[in-house]
This record gives sequence, structure tokens and C-alpha cells, in this order.
Amino acid sequence: MQLVLASPKAISPGSQQLRSPLMGIAGTVLGAVRTLVKSVSPALYGAVSYRRNEGREHWIAATLIRRYGDRVQSGPFKGMHLTTRSVSAGWSPKLLGCYEEEVQPLLERVLYREYHQIVNIGAAEGYYAVGLALRIPDAEVWAFDSQPRAQETCSELAYLNGVANRLRVHGHCTAEALRAILAERALVVCDCEGAELDLLDPGLVPALVDCDMLVETHEFLHPGVSAVVGSRFARTHSIAWVQSCPRDPSRYGALRLLRAKDRVLAVDEHRPAAQSWALLLSMAWIEPEPTRQVGRAGLGDSR
Ligand SMILES: C[S@@+](CC[C@H](N)C(=O)[O-])C[C@H]1O[C@@H](n2cnc3c(N)ncnc32)[C@H](O)[C@@H]1O
Repeated sequence: MQLVLASPKAISPGSQQLRSPLMGIAGTVLGAVRTLVKSVSPALYGAVSYRRNEGREHWIAATLIRRYGDRVQSGPFKGMHLTTRSVSAGWSPKLLGCYEEEVQPLLERVLYREYHQIVNIGAAEGYYAVGLALRIPDAEVWAFDSQPRAQETCSELAYLNGVANRLRVHGHCTAEALRAILAERALVVCDCEGAELDLLDPGLVPALVDCDMLVETHEFLHPGVSAVVGSRFARTHSIAWVQSCPRDPSRYGALRLLRAKDRVLAVDEHRPAAQSWALLLSMAWIEPEPTRQVGRAGLGDSR
């Protein structure tokens, strides 16, 4: 039997019957390839999954901005302007305020602590660096990212939100750079594609012992990294872990204007694998309870 590939218009009821088993086989093979790539290289899988939907992500972002404007809708950084210079994975969740929602309870805990320095390693377009500068108005923020485009976008976001005078953008972060700049009792926010293994080491950067840290660990890049980081600070910090979990788009009323498939994409952070975050609070200065009113200056919202 010879199979002829037909255009959709030319498909007759008979050829539909032929197509279905073929499509079933193709679907199974594709599914198996996806599973294989995901297990062999979760990072590649995440990148491909994002690229496949990139055009749609831009359309969704544009639709949400037209309807709601460029300010974060909810969560710890509610009211912060976002820049449309780069629509990357997680842009729509950032606008909705559900980006890395698992981390928000940990973030709320650090907002009650007094920091004069915040060091963000892997700042990307500055969501955390600028958000934290807005929420912790006494702090100077050091935002590190290896990529020039991320550095430019982060600077732009800082200007857009009026915190450029307190935020310095730097390039690639090394243990040496951290040793040189880290002050006592700083907050370190670290999401840098596995470099946490090399950077969050009190043997190399002793000042970390007195700092709080919010870190995303990348087990799919360095299996065991969570345990290693945890053990390095087990004696000096109190440590709380959270795990990434799936999003339910029906929880976000703002997405009602999108089709069901787009709602799923709008909350997708394109995680290549389940991930964990840890909040490490230095025992050198654990305080019993909130010490000050938490600021939302510049965020257009008084709590
Ligand atoms: C997943 S992104 C961070 C996303 C960010 N947490 C956010 O929420 O927008 C990781 C970033 O880490 C940066 N990076 C990786 N290693 C780094 C290092 N040693 N120093 C500075 N940036 C680094 C990459 O360039 C990338 O932009």
C-alpha cells in the first residue's frame, strides 16, 4: 500500500481513517522523544518548550498589557512596572504576580528584616532586584548577571521604577567578586543556573555566614546540590525549603480574556524539572518578630 501525504482540504473520509493510526503512531513517537529529551537534558527541553511557544507568549503578553497595563497585578511586587524590552519565560506570570508563587511566603519573611545590602546573583531582567529595592527602601542592591542584555534590561527596569540610584548592575559573579562586596547582614538572592554550587560556599566567601540567602537550587544541573548547600549552612542558618508545583490557571481571574490553551501558557514558567528554593536565615541575627513596618513605597499601594 502506498501512502500519499494529502493537504488537509484533500483528505477524504477514507484517508481520515488512514491518518488516525498514523497520527497515533507519530504522537506516540513524539511523546517518547519528548520524555527522552526531558530526562537526558531538562535544560534543552525547557528551552525548546519555550521557543516553540515564544510567538504565542508575546501575543499573550501584549494582550495582558493592553488590558491591565505594565504593572504587576498582585503578590509581593504588586504595582511594580515591568519593561516590555524582553518578554522571556515567566513574563506573563510576573505581570500576574504569580511568578515563583511557591517562594512568596519565604519572600514575605525577609521583607520584615533590616537589610542595607541586597545581592542578587542571576538578576536577569531585574524582577527580584528591582522588586526588592522597592520593598526594602533602606537597601542598596547589587544585581549580577552574566548576560549584557539582562544587564541592560535590569538597568532599564530600575529607571522605570525610580530605584536606579540604589541599584548597581554588574556582570558575571564569582566567589572573588562576592568576597569583595558582601557586607555584614546582607540578603543574597541567588538563581544562577547551578552556579550556587560554586558561589554559596562559606569556605570561599566567609561573610555568607552572617547573611540571609534565598536560593533556587538546580538539581537537574548538579544532582545533590540542594543537600550540599544545606549542609554547608546547617550549623549557621535556619533553613526552610519549598518545591515548585504546577499552576492552575483557573485561579487567576485576570486570564478570563484568554482562550483555555493560552491561559495554561500564561502561567507556565517553562521549568525543565521540579525545582527547590531555600530560605537560609543567619542564626547570628534571627529576630523574634517583625521589627518594622514593611514598605511598599513607590508601588502605588499602601497596606
Ligand atoms: C533563570 S535566570 C534568573 C531569573 C530570575 N531569577 C528572574 O526571576 O527573573 C538565571 C540567570 O543567571 C545568570 N547567571 C548564571 N550564572 C551567573 C553568574 N555566575 N553570575 C551572574 N549571573 C549568572 C544567567 O545569565 C541568567 O540570566
